[in-house]
Parts: sequence; structure tokens; C-alpha cells
Amino acid sequence: MAVEPTFKSAFNAAPAAHSFTPGRVNLIGEHTDYNGGHVLPAALHIGIHAAMTPRADNKVRVTSDMFTGLSERDLSDSAANHWSDYALGAVIFANKAGYLSGGADIAMTGNLPTGAGLSSSSALTVGLLKLAAELSGKQIDNTDVSKLARRIENEFIGMPCGIMDQMAVAVARPGQALSLDTKHLTYDLVDLPADYHFAVLHSGQYRRNADGHYKIRKQECDAVKAALGHDDPCLMSDAELAGLSHLDDKLIRRARHCMTEHRRTLRAAQALKNGDITMLGRLMNESHVSMRDDFEMSLPPIDALVADAVKLGAAGARLTGGGFGGCIVACVKKTDLDDWTKALLALHPDAFAVC
Ligand code: GLA
Repeated sequence: MAVEPTFKSAFNAAPAAHSFTPGRVNLIGEHTDYNGGHVLPAALHIGIHAAMTPRADNKVRVTSDMFTGLSERDLSDSAANHWSDYALGAVIFANKAGYLSGGADIAMTGNLPTGAGLSSSSALTVGLLKLAAELSGKQIDNTDVSKLARRIENEFIGMPCGIMDQMAVAVARPGQALSLDTKHLTYDLVDLPADYHFAVLHSGQYRRNADGHYKIRKQECDAVKAALGHDDPCLMSDAELAGLSHLDDKLIRRARHCMTEHRRTLRAAQALKNGDITMLGRLMNESHVSMRDDFEMSLPPIDALVADAVKLGAAGARLTGGGFGGCIVACVKKTDLDDWTKALLALHPDAFAVC
């Protein structure tokens, strides 16, 4: 998985700098990060290795062991729905921030499945922005690097995401969860329990038009914000939710998900800190029901996978990430993990264990 050989075989020289950035799995707190709420993602042991050498001209050349061929782009290019868009975006925004003054040669390798909702794109952009800052001799803190990486998604790629993924991969190290207030960008790091594993399984449901569905949910939340008269539906009171009764039922359910998911996430962070796995598992299960019924971001095969994960002994399980396909996360006793995984995959042959 080392990135230097990939860089060397494409560019015939060693890279000026290289680094590893973990992927993330969100334990609870979905679609709360652009609605003023709390999230609880954990860093994975798997992630993206990135290597970079700055260039004096405007070329951006990108190679990867996950995609074929060398992609040659220019700093003036727009996003083109191509795998090299995120690397190009990172170089463009590193220029805007004054960390680079020109293009770059880039290699990326990794064991994080792309498009699975485990933040491979944030791991890449955060990793490259940190490398560019390091090479320029400038300091960048984790919050600023995350804000810049989010701008790549929002302004260059055109994906209106929140800031959870970027903060998770910039701040948390494998084995830690990030309890993050996305409104104020304040956080705590919480160690994961020693005797439980947060198992990540791909549902085998690929995220068809996931970005399109995400944008629709974002617009629905914007309509809730307009009706509320403020930008934080996660923080609304029960009375404010009751005051939305004139809205379409669908919007009321979206609003209720934001409010209840935020409250569950605060309780889950406390449960994790207290080592109360029973409570954490219960909140994960409730979160899945809210995503399924109120936010409508699940799919029937994922609901079945989550239900069986719990039936077979997980303390809790839920869909994780942006939704409409991708992965589930389940909290399982380490001593039960092998048998539990075998039994679950026997019932769901399309699914596979990621980590
Ligand atoms: C994606 C986005 C995040 C967040 C999640 C849903 O991962 O990038 O900002 O909104 O979906 O919780």
C-alpha cells in the first residue's frame, strides 16, 4: 500500500512529501452537520496514502493504484466527473491558500473502498492540503484544513456537504471517535472501547445517484430552515417542531430527524465516554429507524442487513454516511466478531466486510 513506489514508477523520482490520512465511519449523527448539530465519527485503520511534488508550471498529474492511467489536468480545469477531480481541487485550493504556486505531481494509494461513504475523498483532499502546507513551511491547523477541504467539495466538485468528514479525518486517529459540535467546531476525542469493534460492512448496494439524493435532502432542510427562521433545525425545541405543522408531512419528518438525531448523538457521545455500550447500541438502532422512516435515506436491503446484524447479537447497528446505499456500522463484542460476521454474510451474500 506504500505510495512512494507508485509515485516513483509514474514520475521517475521520489516524492517531496507523503502521508497517510485515515478514512472515517460515522457512529451516529447523520445529516446533522449542515443543520447545526452534533456528529460522532470514528477514524478507521484504513485510509489513503498520498504523495506530492510541487511543479513550477500549471500541470497537475495524478496517478493512483485504485484507477488506471496517468491523469493530466491543468490548474484552469473545472471538475469533470473524473477520479482525479479531488486531487486537482486540492491543488487549486492549496494555491488559493498560498501553499502552492503552480501545479503538482501526485500519487495516491489506499485500501479504502471509494464511493462507499467512508470519506476517501476527504482523506485525499485533507492529506494533500496538509502536504502542500508542510512543503511551503506554513502552519495549518486541523479546523482550517477541514474548512478548506470542505470548500473543494462545495465550490469545486459541487457537492453541498457539511464538515463532518473533513474534521473526522483531519483530527481523529484510528481508535478514536470525534465528538464534534458542527456549529461551533468544538470537539472532544473519545477512545473507542477496548472490548467492542465497530464493524463496517458494505451493503452491496451501490450509491446510485447518491449525490443527487443528498442535494434533495439538503434542499428539504433549507425549506425547514426558512420556515423556522434560523439555520439550526437540529437545535430546535419541541415547541418549534410543533409549530411546523403547516408544512408538508415530508418536511416535518426531515425536521424531526434533524432534531432527534442531534439529541441521540449527544447522548451517544456521553454513553461512549461512560462505557455504556447498551445505551450506545440502543441509540444506534433508533438512529437507523429515524433515517429509514423520517429522513428516508435507507434502502430495504440495508434495513434487512441492519435488522439481522442486531438479531445476531450486535449491541446496535445502523446505516452510516450520506445514505442511499453504502455501508452499515455495527457495534459487536470482539470475542463474537468472527462468528457474527460469518453468520451475517451467510444471510446477505451481496454484503462484505470492509473493516
Ligand atoms: C456525507 C457528507 C457529510 C454528512 C454525511 C451525512 O458523508 O459528506 O458532510 O452530511 O454525508 O451525515
